[in-house]
Amino acid sequence: MANATGFFTPSVPCLRRKIQPSIGISRSGICFSEGIFRRVVCSSGIEGAEKHFSPSKSRVPKLVSKGCKLVGCGSAVPILSVSNDDLAKIVDTSDEWIYVRTGIRNRRVISGKESLKSLAVEAARKALEMADVDRNDLDLILMCTSTPDDLFGVAPQVQRELGCTKTPLAYDITAACSGFVLGLVSAACHIRGGGFRNVLVIGADIISRIVDWTDRGTCILFGDAAGAVLVQACDAEEDGLLGFDLHSDGEGGRHLGAPINDDRTNDLLGSNGSVLDFPPKRSSYNCVQMNGKEVFRFAVRCVPQSIESALEKAGLTASSIDWLLLHQANQRIIDAVATRLEFPQEKVISNLANYGNTSAASIPLALDEVVRSGKVKSGQTIATAGFGAGLTWGSAVIRWG
Ligand code: ACO
Repeated sequence: MANATGFFTPSVPCLRRKIQPSIGISRSGICFSEGIFRRVVCSSGIEGAEKHFSPSKSRVPKLVSKGCKLVGCGSAVPILSVSNDDLAKIVDTSDEWIYVRTGIRNRRVISGKESLKSLAVEAARKALEMADVDRNDLDLILMCTSTPDDLFGVAPQVQRELGCTKTPLAYDITAACSGFVLGLVSAACHIRGGGFRNVLVIGADIISRIVDWTDRGTCILFGDAAGAVLVQACDAEEDGLLGFDLHSDGEGGRHLGAPINDDRTNDLLGSNGSVLDFPPKRSSYNCVQMNGKEVFRFAVRCVPQSIESALEKAGLTASSIDWLLLHQANQRIIDAVATRLEFPQEKVISNLANYGNTSAASIPLALDEVVRSGKVKSGQTIATAGFGAGLTWGSAVIRWG
């Protein structure tokens, strides 16, 4: 089992030490140099890339900042709404069973021309608009998804569709339902250690593509959506990532996954090492396979521990936090974690009933709803946690705005 806490790895301080000898440790465990911003030279251009991305014109000889804050959010969901009663027409289930066991009533599923990219771009545009940041002032796009339109990654396509011609870098992060929390912490690393100023974190998944619609144990849980948050460099006093805690455990991965199906490479070689059947047949991936009970147990055990650890790094307690926003997987998991951490019901954010489990999108989707409705106000703190396939899980204590 691996884990990471709210203290960045030594590689970042090492880089900075070369540039600025005066290093301190902030409350959230982040190393920084004296003064709000220090200029560093970071080249992100690559040889052979188009003219405006050439190293000499790199947008990232930038600023190293002490803090990062969340300044904009947006979300997008497909048009098609699928109710529990609709699902009862295709698998042996009922609205009552689904609602009592999960808290889900409806979910959205892509149709027509909708795609992961179209939802991600819509969510991203809204986040940029709220943050009042021009698309060409973006330094980085992190696309957190496990269901890309292209197996090699979709972030550069999102970058292109957004028209970010001056944004030097966009890449994918694959960590299922933990993806958004990992993206958020990665954004902070890029800002605090890499000199990036505006990082767009998108959480988006189209699980309807990889779910077995004849399996009542899984198909009732998931929905499609995208959410985005703009993370921006700021002064230490305004820092919006107060603490975090990240983990992974490949051993538990057998309880939840969509592994490669029928890997044919074994057929290539005979017992004496001779080549039998070349070229290999094309492989495909299985639908979501899940041991629901084990995943449930894992979430209820590990998520409260992780949040407590992130709170400790932030120097805060659960009672001082304004909101609890968990990955929206199952209302019974949300309730159990809230009870364990003694969060009163009125501080718990949930929109699971309307959208089901939207994987990497669930946290930014719910965040966007509560920010736009005025429920979550600027300056309020949120304990958030993602968990899921890998297994991966992680928490972040954040301040909105
Ligand atoms: N409708 C009716 N009956 C059902 C359904 C259904 N949709 N699904 C299962 N059942 C039946 C089962 O067949 C079983 O029947 P049996 O007792 O005759 O064998 C019975 O209901 C109980 O099944 P369980 O699987 O034990 O039900 P459980 O209470 O564990 O609930 C659930 C299942 C909702 C999946 C739950 O285990 C759960 O939410 N687990 C966590 C899932 C999760 O959070 N996943 C995260 C994924 S995130 C990511 O990374 C992709």
